[in-house]
Amino acid sequence: MNRPIHWFDSLDSTMTYATKLAEDGSPSGTVVGADEQRRGQGRYGRSWHSAKNEGLYISEILRLSLPSDAMPVLTLALGLATAEAIFKATDLACDLRWPNDLLAGSKKCAGILVQLQGDAVVAGIGINVNQTEFPEELKQIATSVRMATGREHSREVLLERLLESIDTHCGILMEQGKDAIIRMFSESSTYVWGRRVTVDQGERSLLGVTEGLDHSGFLTLR
Ligand code: BTN
Repeated sequence: MNRPIHWFDSLDSTMTYATKLAEDGSPSGTVVGADEQRRGQGRYGRSWHSAKNEGLYISEILRLSLPSDAMPVLTLALGLATAEAIFKATDLACDLRWPNDLLAGSKKCAGILVQLQGDAVVAGIGINVNQTEFPEELKQIATSVRMATGREHSREVLLERLLESIDTHCGILMEQGKDAIIRMFSESSTYVWGRRVTVDQGERSLLGVTEGLDHSGFLTLR
């Protein structure tokens, strides 16, 4: 696919820049990336550690013909796409923790942030690629592909695989529907059935045992 890619040495956040491009009508598939983010955004208003040249930090504008109730499943599709890209580029098989954390062992190596902007979706993906250490407050919960595999990896190759995998998984969602993605996610994640989990909802968290995904892509807990 021939797509516009806007790449920066340093940005506050690729989300902010991509949101402005989406407002101005940039086409589906437009990518904003940065070697470093000064104010990388995570879910629930948290920050995303974005050290220079170590991770992959991108936001892609998506204009998909999907009903609005497909948004939770789009998030799952992006998680699957990211896991596939990491596997193809580095041989690392990640687990998926609903809704969109990628784990290597029990630590997080990638995250996804989906925001609506008018009729567009801005899909932000952060992958910890070549970090060899994290700030004290993240040490217990974060890892990188390099730390998990013992090898350095090319961010460029990972970006290529990621954009291909996003196209593939958005295509599956549009052509085969929500159930196809829900089935794939359920098969790829060890968290979907029979796991005692704490689901992070920002200010509160829910404790329970997982009992599968419902038809909207939400995790059910007992
Ligand atoms: C999360 O797991 O909390 C979501 C993290 C999303 C991080 C990415 S990095 C690229 C894009 N720009 C941002 O500021 N955030 C997302």
